[in-house]
Amino acid sequence: MAFFRSVPSTEIFPAVPGDGVYLRAPQLSDFAEWATLREASRDFLAPWEPIWPADDLTRAAFRRRLRRYAEDIRNDLAYPFFIFDRPHNNLVGGLTLANIRRGVAQAGSLGYWIGVHYARKGYMTRAVQAVIPFSFDALRLHRLEAACIPSNAASVSLLEKTGFKREGYAREYLCIDGVWQDHLLYARLKQDVGA
Ligand SMILES: CC(C)(COP(=O)(O)OP(=O)(O)OC[C@H]1O[C@@H](n2cnc3c(N)ncnc32)[C@H](O)[C@@H]1OP(=O)(O)O)[C@@H](O)C(=O)NCCC(=O)NCCS
Repeated sequence: MAFFRSVPSTEIFPAVPGDGVYLRAPQLSDFAEWATLREASRDFLAPWEPIWPADDLTRAAFRRRLRRYAEDIRNDLAYPFFIFDRPHNNLVGGLTLANIRRGVAQAGSLGYWIGVHYARKGYMTRAVQAVIPFSFDALRLHRLEAACIPSNAASVSLLEKTGFKREGYAREYLCIDGVWQDHLLYARLKQDVGA
């Protein structure tokens, strides 16, 4: 039985505009800026992310990453974005709408990171605010989910500020920095209100 139709996806989807930022699909030409920003941010990001593979910041791994992204977009499984500031067009971070589930769920999960030099300047708040209408209107999702480690004060405050509601607590939910860690579970529905 067909419940809800999937939204057809193209390999490259249009940029998503935000307030002082825009989000677009990663491209090979982003490699140098991305690798430089990730390397500079390693100590800042590592405690909150899965362990980085040894070759993660190489061009070959970035090409593989782009191939995986293209496959995911084609199959309507994930929408990866790099975040750029305006008016400078600097790459400031990344945000991925992943684990898209169609059928009766129509849900997806949000993941994000900001470069260390750009932290606490409101970039991720504005990126999440931009991706919310993309998720509910363009992709026609019903539910946006996110999870974070309870001690991640920045992530907790980002989610609560952008209208996500705390719904639960999952034990040893994700393997972060090499350890299975408990997570707070958050979700936002279209009608939920945030800043
Ligand atoms: C979480 C993260 C993406 C937030 O990005 P950001 O661009 O710095 O966020 P913003 O500047 O939009 O701030 C969002 C809220 O978090 C708060 N915040 C940001 N950094 C904080 C920190 N280190 N401690 C406490 N609160 C913090 C901000 O004050 C703001 O809340 P407020 O407006 O109520 O003051 C960023 O801290 C990050 O990449 N952290 C490491 C990786 C990570 O945690 N990924 C997510 C895993 S779930």
